[in-house]
Amino acid sequence: MKTKVLDKTQIEDAAEILRRGGVVGIPTETVYGLAADALNGKAVEKIFKAKGRPMDNPLIVHVADFSDIEKYNLVREIPENAKTLAKAFWPGPLTMIMKRTDVIPPEVSAGLDTVAIRFPSHPVAQEIIRKAKTPLAAPSANLSGSPSPTTAQHVLNDMNDKIDAVLDGGACEVGVESTVITLATDVPRILRPGGITVEQLREVLGKVEVDDAVIHQLAEGATAASPGMKYKHYAPKANVLLIKGSDEAYISFVNSHSADDVCALCCDEDLLLLKTKTVSLGRRNDYLTHARHLFDCLRRIDENKTIRTVYSRLPSVEGVGLAVYNRLIRAAGFEVIDLETV
Ligand code: TXA
Ligand code: MG
Repeated sequence: MKTKVLDKTQIEDAAEILRRGGVVGIPTETVYGLAADALNGKAVEKIFKAKGRPMDNPLIVHVADFSDIEKYNLVREIPENAKTLAKAFWPGPLTMIMKRTDVIPPEVSAGLDTVAIRFPSHPVAQEIIRKAKTPLAAPSANLSGSPSPTTAQHVLNDMNDKIDAVLDGGACEVGVESTVITLATDVPRILRPGGITVEQLREVLGKVEVDDAVIHQLAEGATAASPGMKYKHYAPKANVLLIKGSDEAYISFVNSHSADDVCALCCDEDLLLLKTKTVSLGRRNDYLTHARHLFDCLRRIDENKTIRTVYSRLPSVEGVGLAVYNRLIRAAGFEVIDLETV
């Protein structure tokens, strides 16, 4: 099928495709989503096909208002915590997991008894959901395993001829996917870090746990609380290695490994000191900017087909830094070179 490219004046066209059971790439404040009618299992199945996504990985359901959760009868009961979190962070980059009803098709929940729900803040996403007159299931609009898309062009690079349309709403503001928190456990637990930080969530809820899989590799045979966390993810085709150590140690390590097929994923302050190809995430401690640029940087590295090895600084786990850490450690297949111990 030919993929149509729509602009912001064509939101009704996107909504019409979705009402008919089609699949559309849509902008959100985090990353572009691959959307279909969340209440139509056949439509949702097309998302898995286009992405090459394993069917055991459930999807996030996007709503255009907190009241949509009740209106469409998506969950068995809305926990008090969900109301508190919605007041603080919705609309925005936070996804909440609750016990689902049977309204949720098995394709969306992938056999779990829960559903993940998000109310995005992007005005175009909100208008598409309202006009589609149904909640929308939407994973990130990349091929399964590849870096998530933060522009309509990224979506086209992965999905051209595989989906009905993409709506170009410009570059995404946050740049990494939403924070996923489950409210189906006794203590709320973060399954994936994102635009809303652990610190922000603790301020509002008090006790919040961070799932082990956020920064550690799952033990062989262990069950992932969030199925998406068990797959190798966000990886460019080049081999990514994370370097742990001081600024000076990083610079000298990369310079002594400089070669034509090597690239440094670094920060602005490193640029003049490095004697190799460089791609910068932004100023050293500006984690918000690192998040916004991360996937675009990984995709740019891929476009330079000669690069085979990427030496990246090990990100900080503070604030939004944790979301960048979580993505890069997966892109690196958990490979860290520790210069402090060698
Ligand atoms: O920012 C975002 O969240 C973007 C935009 C498009 O909204 N969406 C996104 O979806 O990142 P996706 O499918 O790429 O990531 C969803 C993650 C996966 O790791 C999945 O396993 C997890 O959320 N997830 C979804 N439903 C779940 C559930 N019921 N229980 C546990 N994990 C769930
Ligand atoms: Mg994804």
